[in-house]
Amino acid sequence: MFSRYGFVMMIVFANTKGGVGKSTLAVHFAVWLFDRGAKVALLDCDKQRSSSQWIAEAEPQITVTAADTPENVALLAQELRQSHDFVVGDGPGGLDDLSRTLLILADLAVFPISPSILDLRSVAQATGVLKYAHSINQGRPEGRLVLNRMRKRDTISRELQAAAPNLGLSVARSVIRDLQIYRDAAQQGTAATRMGARGRDAAAELTQLFVELLTDKLAFLEVGDLNNEQTGRAHVRKTVAQ
Ligand SMILES: Nc1ncnc2c1ncn2[C@@H]1O[C@H](COP(=O)(O)OP(=O)(O)OP(=O)(O)O)[C@@H](O)[C@H]1O
Ligand SMILES: [Mg+2]
Repeated sequence: MFSRYGFVMMIVFANTKGGVGKSTLAVHFAVWLFDRGAKVALLDCDKQRSSSQWIAEAEPQITVTAADTPENVALLAQELRQSHDFVVGDGPGGLDDLSRTLLILADLAVFPISPSILDLRSVAQATGVLKYAHSINQGRPEGRLVLNRMRKRDTISRELQAAAPNLGLSVARSVIRDLQIYRDAAQQGTAATRMGARGRDAAAELTQLFVELLTDKLAFLEVGDLNNEQTGRAHVRKTVAQ
């Protein structure tokens, strides 16, 4: 195995519904991991190729690959695992065969949802597909619902937060707010975590979320500068590099 960490982790962003923030979160997670010294690959399974174009612009040192068929995705994932610490999968806007394959291959499946009734309904489908993946892959992947585009004073946001624990999937405690900086980051081909003082709020909430999602894998990354996202690439701990 290539990974200096002794593990390879594949994190997949999926949902039945489009426009919930899969690509936004996948790109930010990939850049965030890279900036902490990890060797990262993005596996773009969306025909629009938005995340691979975004990453290619934001960080050329992240490996970018794209897959269109379940066969392709399985082969590529296998290949990427041989030479990276983290593989981040960006799913298409739907839970078709391609997404199902992506989920079966994953260690962690993240389902972003945003405050709308439709998104709530899509969670039931996501839970079903996750159970299917569990039956094939010995209880893997772990699944997490992530509340995205949350607005403080918005009733639907509050309702979603209240309903989330009953949706049959565990919910990340950290939430991502609806912030203009995420749209600007996409437009400028960069990550909010690399946008200086303007990106500070986004960087703080992203770090909180990613730290929560990584749990036991966290010890391997340098996250000592949790409150200082702007210092650029941090170093892998010595113990890991050896
Ligand atoms: N937290 C956020 N705050 C503000 N805008 C956001 C946030 N997350 C995503 N967006 C915006 O919402 C839109 C949809 O996001 P994104 O493309 O990441 O979703 P997706 O689930 O990948 O969509 P698709 O299914 O089309 O691939 C984009 O314009 C993005 O900039
Ligand atoms: Mg997308």
